[in-house]
Amino acid sequence: MPGLLERYRHIYQLDADYPIVSLNEGSTPLILASAVARHIETLYGVKDLKVFVKFDGLNPTGSFKDRGMTYAVSQAKKQGATHIICASTGNTSASAAAYGARAGIKTLIIIPQGKIALGKLSQAIMYGASIVEIDGNFDVALDIVRELGKTGRVTVVNSINPYRIEGQKSAAFEICDELFDAPDYHFIPVGNAGNITAYWAGYRQYHDLGKSTKRPKMMGYEAEGCAAIVLNKKIENPETFATAIRIGNPASWQGAVDARDESGGDIGMVSDDEIASAYQFLARNEGVFCEPASAASVAGLFKACQAGQVKQGATIACTLTGNGLKDPDSAIRLGEADRATLPADVARIQAHFGL
Ligand code: F0G
Repeated sequence: MPGLLERYRHIYQLDADYPIVSLNEGSTPLILASAVARHIETLYGVKDLKVFVKFDGLNPTGSFKDRGMTYAVSQAKKQGATHIICASTGNTSASAAAYGARAGIKTLIIIPQGKIALGKLSQAIMYGASIVEIDGNFDVALDIVRELGKTGRVTVVNSINPYRIEGQKSAAFEICDELFDAPDYHFIPVGNAGNITAYWAGYRQYHDLGKSTKRPKMMGYEAEGCAAIVLNKKIENPETFATAIRIGNPASWQGAVDARDESGGDIGMVSDDEIASAYQFLARNEGVFCEPASAASVAGLFKACQAGQVKQGATIACTLTGNGLKDPDSAIRLGEADRATLPADVARIQAHFGL
């Protein structure tokens, strides 16, 4: 498959000479998650759900950020930018650094020190970005990026750049194309709230174009320790082990509220324990290894079903935003490893496995 700007060129309406910077992002699998549906029926009695996970962790840099970055960096290139800059909890910086490398544009990154999953940091280093770690959280880093953007010498590629949201809409197009209609509900993690804003714009646009008969209820989930939108106040010291969504003042706050209100959906919060158990459930029962923040969507689905917010027989899409390999520390800490060290001896190993 070509990248998403090529795939949806008719919607993005790009000129023939538009300089697309692509790593063939998008076209990620929409995987039927029947174990999730069975679990919900057993625990909460909601029957006949068709649950799909949109595994955006299978993008070129391992997260959904590539969808927006292909467009933001293409546009930066078109405008002759020499530098791009972003604040990040890790994935945006990995993606910006990759697309920057591909475009021949220098990538500058500001990240909270000690709060970036190892895989993401290793990506930014390998792609050759210039990295500054600060003694402050993502919200502080984004404020600094906004200030530096005002110099006019760098292009900001956080989701305050409208091309990011435009590119990310494509995930909603793909889901509708594959299901031949929109789902009834869309569950999604919420951090800086760009992605829920983008999905809602994508679903609206497809509906307006007559490509779907309905629009889903948008169900967004923040982590409990940083639930700014749910609590309707900025969180000064956001905390969650799902570091990707460790954000206390989401830039697209209003976009998330509009998505909720216009779709008749909800923004809820899930605890770290709920995130961790959905994270484990997906790996052990579906064979899908996403990163912790991604599992907030499925944790939210469990919670909404328990609360009676989901109708029997519904079609449900859950975005899994990032790849589990991004955060090996969380996997090793929470994976309940069945591991042993034994001598290299057939009989001993046979006995150990009970064969
Ligand atoms: N899931 C993952 C894996 C993320 O990396 C992010 C955001 C989100 C969910 C939340 O998406 O911000 O659009 O609401 N990561 C950003 C980053 C903040 O810097 O990589 P959102």
